[in-house]
Amino acid sequence: MTSYGLPETHRALVLSSTQKDIDAKVQTIPVPSATPGSAVVKVILASVLPYAREVYDGTRQYPMPLPYVMGSSAIARIVAVGPDAVKLAPGQLVLVDSYVRSRDDPDVSFLAGYTEGSKRLMRGEWRDWTYAEYAKVPLENCFPLDEERLLGPIEKGGLGYSVENLTQIPRLLVPNGGLKDINLQAGETIIIAPATGMFGGRAVDVALAMGAKAIAVGRNAKTLEKLASMNDRVKTVQLTMHVETDVRALQKFGPIDAFQDWSPPEAGVSTHIRSCIQALRVGGRASLMGGITGDISINYASIMFRNIQIRGNFMYSKKDIESLIKMVLAGVLKLGKENLVESFPLERWLDAFKAAEESTSLGKQILLAP
Ligand SMILES: NC(=O)c1ccc[n+]([C@@H]2O[C@H](COP(=O)([O-])OP(=O)(O)OC[C@H]3O[C@@H](n4cnc5c(N)ncnc54)[C@H](OP(=O)(O)O)[C@@H]3O)[C@@H](O)[C@H]2O)c1
Repeated sequence: MTSYGLPETHRALVLSSTQKDIDAKVQTIPVPSATPGSAVVKVILASVLPYAREVYDGTRQYPMPLPYVMGSSAIARIVAVGPDAVKLAPGQLVLVDSYVRSRDDPDVSFLAGYTEGSKRLMRGEWRDWTYAEYAKVPLENCFPLDEERLLGPIEKGGLGYSVENLTQIPRLLVPNGGLKDINLQAGETIIIAPATGMFGGRAVDVALAMGAKAIAVGRNAKTLEKLASMNDRVKTVQLTMHVETDVRALQKFGPIDAFQDWSPPEAGVSTHIRSCIQALRVGGRASLMGGITGDISINYASIMFRNIQIRGNFMYSKKDIESLIKMVLAGVLKLGKENLVESFPLERWLDAFKAAEESTSLGKQILLAP
């Protein structure tokens, strides 16, 4: 046992190479110790993203420091903190944010467990992440969650959520970052496209909680119907991929202030980005948050003459995380209790990745429970 009463070893999912068949194994390795600036957490549930398989089999060609413990954002309990922790303490329930920023250069960051934006950080101190029983994480990546309010019964002033429900928070953080970046205001109208995927669907939730009206756009009529049934501030447009037709369909809802894009790489050939930008009012704002790796075609003159602002946005700021947690605590941003959740033990990681890939539509959460 370490000085914190933790076991000496734990089970962790270690990726050894990014081949077509993901070369990963659950291994028994030493439990990390809390050093200055870090906390050790016991992972309760860690998220699996729909494109996890593509990341870990090398399809997406994300650079990684092999071998290492894979992972993503998680809901966890702190079991040890470094000597410089002032607010965090063992026992606290926390959201572990996987977007790690450098402490001495705000421009350097990386997605822990997924890909190295910073070689120095991911190959060194923060190499191993949350697909494990325990993980050492930066103190500033732990966001305390008010258990009494979030998990407490409704009749006692709680929100009645389960820990599974809390795993929706990381998914909401990402669109929230982009919506804050384009300064979405209550009463404005925003197009979310595609809105039928994991992040697009959550973007609709956050936009509504901010008081905006959403036009959910996509190819899948059934999922669009589900989105429209959530709230009468949601309108939908099913893409025809004919730019003029799609622009007309969008504009029939009145002036459109903003657009947030969630295209995966395969949507790089789609015409929807062009249509959605074209549909914006003069002075409209667009937030590009998808995963397209190549070039896209947009109408230069129409952007210039209409004073359109286009911003790229990766992830979110620490302030955005705190404000989103406040929205959840206040009850204005509701975590769907009816959402389907499927959690897998660590040993069934491949089933989890496959399930995540098949669950791109609304709501379904795939989790690893180490
Ligand atoms: N900026 C950031 O900070 C950030 C953070 C995380 C993720 N991302 C990026 O966000 C992207 C979306 O992630 P996700 O988890 O939401 O993906 P997802 O759940 O797989 O959803 C993909 C969506 O794209 C639609 N789609 C697929 N192919 C299309 C095509 N050819 N034309 C039009 N629509 C198409 C799908 O609609 P159908 O139902 O019609 O198939 C679905 O709505 C990822 O590629 C990721 O890299 C960015």
